[in-house]
Amino acid sequence: HAFTVVTRDGRDITVGADESILDALSAAGVRSLSSCREGVCGTCETGVLEGEPDHRDRVLSEDERAAGDTMMICVSRCRGERLVLDV
Ligand code: FES
Repeated sequence: HAFTVVTRDGRDITVGADESILDALSAAGVRSLSSCREGVCGTCETGVLEGEPDHRDRVLSEDERAAGDTMMICVSRCRGERLVLDV
């Protein structure tokens, strides 16, 4: 499903069902580091300030997933409608 990512400066960016957070941010002019784009390298790790990530990477441990304060934005998504990210 589509959801909204909110940036630190309060911009709302819609992430479509078929695009990654990384791509949606990039299209909106928000630069993020990335490398593998497959959830394996950890380069795109981004802090989560609010909201519940839907983790789809192979980088984070179970404890890190449960804590929900960081995510890989190349593959992971949102369980609800809104994520506030440290971008
Ligand atoms: Fe490699 Fe996201 S770019 S984990």
